[in-house]
Amino acid sequence: MAKDIKNMPLPEVLPKHIGFIMDGNGRWAKKRHMPRTFGHVEGAKTFEKIVDYCRDIGINCISFYTFSTENWKRSAEEVNSIMNLLRQYIVKARDYFSKETRIVFIGDKSAFSEDLRKQMTDIENDTKDFDKMNLLIAVNYGGRDEIKNAAKAIARKAIAGEINPDDITEDTVADYLYTREFPDVDLLIRPSGELRISNYLIWQCAYAEFYFSDVLWPDFLPEELNKALHAYAGRSRRFGGV
Ligand code: IPE
Ligand code: IPE
Ligand code: MG
Repeated sequence: MAKDIKNMPLPEVLPKHIGFIMDGNGRWAKKRHMPRTFGHVEGAKTFEKIVDYCRDIGINCISFYTFSTENWKRSAEEVNSIMNLLRQYIVKARDYFSKETRIVFIGDKSAFSEDLRKQMTDIENDTKDFDKMNLLIAVNYGGRDEIKNAAKAIARKAIAGEINPDDITEDTVADYLYTREFPDVDLLIRPSGELRISNYLIWQCAYAEFYFSDVLWPDFLPEELNKALHAYAGRSRRFGGV
């Protein structure tokens, strides 16, 4: 029987920004003798449940790694199936409007077709005034790529004489990242047993707390997130202090 997730006890301290590396879809499908693409479909359902739970409990910002700059290495069939899911979810994202969620796509959208880019931009514009929650969806995202693009943009400004290199601060760099309007990651969650960051929000995770779980993403339901929240609340964050 499904647990009553609304009544799961919450810790007092909640993260402002939770980053999710949605990993393990392929292995989840393989265990069931199904194609990897089936795992992505199930993973997308889990994404919806986690988004709803985060909204219910009042998390300010959540971000999801859906496709990395390195994931193009996969077979055309798998890449296409992920892109199709993305299209479906872009349409579905309209459901979130009534729930006052701002939706932002982070990553290099130039790799996508014009119609897909337009759909993403339209949703971003239509939801930009919503403030109940910020939902960041990382598509063709790579942390190094993001920092490289910031470096290029700042270098151009310096050449144009609009910024003095000696005046460049950490905040200047942060202002050129896709996440410029959002808080750094407080809690980074990676299911599937892998103990790595895989190029996700590497600047923004400088002081994130990491939570790893062996559960594969399609099974990472709100009960699992609740465990992560309790683990987070028990951590002592010092940010280099004592
Ligand atoms: C994560 O699941 C989803 C994407 C990378 C798009 P995987 O597809 O990486 O699943 P595993 O790691 O092979 O099980
Ligand atoms: C990270 O998972 C990317 C996404 C979840 C979108 P990967 O499966 O691509 O990462 P590695 O290859 O195990 O590091
Ligand atoms: Mg993987």
